[in-house]
Amino acid sequence: MSDEAVLTDYKYVFQKDIFKGKVAFVTGGGTGIGFTIAEILMRHGCDTIIASRRLDVLKNAAEKLSKATGQRCLPIQMDVRKPEAITKAVEEALGHFRRIDILINNAAGNFLCPAENLSFNAFKTVMEIDAHGTFNVSKAVFDKYMKNSGGVIINITATLSVRGAALQTHAGTAKAAIEAMTKHLAVEWGPNGVRMMCVAPGPIADTEGMRRLGGNRITDDFLKSIPVQRLGRREDIGNAVLYIASSAGELLTGTTVIADGGAWLTSENNFWRIKNSPLYKQISKM
Ligand code: COA
Ligand code: NAP
Repeated sequence: MSDEAVLTDYKYVFQKDIFKGKVAFVTGGGTGIGFTIAEILMRHGCDTIIASRRLDVLKNAAEKLSKATGQRCLPIQMDVRKPEAITKAVEEALGHFRRIDILINNAAGNFLCPAENLSFNAFKTVMEIDAHGTFNVSKAVFDKYMKNSGGVIINITATLSVRGAALQTHAGTAKAAIEAMTKHLAVEWGPNGVRMMCVAPGPIADTEGMRRLGGNRITDDFLKSIPVQRLGRREDIGNAVLYIASSAGELLTGTTVIADGGAWLTSENNFWRIKNSPLYKQISKM
């Protein structure tokens, strides 16, 4: 079941009805950052579809999101690696809501692993979920709706490839591919009225991503090393998406908004030191 909690004291910056009558499709919207992105869009009048592999998690999340926001949320089971399932999911979404104005490609898979320990299948799996998955869902939504009606596609990436983060060859490569794809599609689909953007979060508290990437080892030193002196919150990413998808973001396309408090500039990335750390010994045993 989804353990996700809705926001208790959300501070509105934009008018509450900016997405009235609009519909967003959020992959991985049943948990973590995707859940909060869906919530913030819904708080601004949007209906949503949340889609991923675990239907029980999605159903529970959809109920919570609708109750908190008064908007409709349709849960759909779908693996972003399976084009047939995606096509069916997009058809179901359009049958239900008649439109998809915003697509958030948020689904991803990750874990810490040095490249020398990655199996061929481990690398391929992350590439397929993140990079292929983003293309698959974007293409299905473009073909079936945005080609004629326009829209905004926002891909959730990361800052891993900016400095070649240690232990993240698989995810960094996949996210870099998504950022390149975003530029290509911005060029080709712009004339159809489609804007393509990426949001690259840094470390975000209270997420599966953080837990998997060493979130149980957050020290005061680590927090102090981040220029804004704190971890990101899911709400920070939801608000970045809100701005980009709104009419205030109409000139934004083909680029990435890094929403990480400057963490990529300063975070530890010394492989020699990491290799001698307790964390490395722990993941090497996995
Ligand atoms: N370290 C190294 N390799 C790992 C790993 C880890 N922690 N976890 C999985 N793998 C490898 C597996 O061993 C397998 O390779 P093999 O066949 O050579 O043994 C390969 O990755 C695929 O694993 P599998 O469990 O079959 O894939 P899946 O499709 O069921 O799940 C994952 C995909 C592995 C990414 C899974 O962790 C997942 O579903 N993640 C979603 C949630 C998530 O990652 N959230 C954070 C987002 S930032
Ligand atoms: P999360 O809660 O684990 O979210 C990942 C979601 O993707 C889950 O809901 C999962 O649902 C779905 N998913 C995974 N594989 C899928 C597949 N094959 N098909 C369909 N859906 C799939 O993790 P998160 O931390 O919120 O991460 C969300 C996004 O933010 C990811 O793109 C991640 O790379 C990015 N990010 C996170 C951080 C961070 O600090 N958390 C930092 C940088 C970037 P199912 O299991 O039901 O399929």
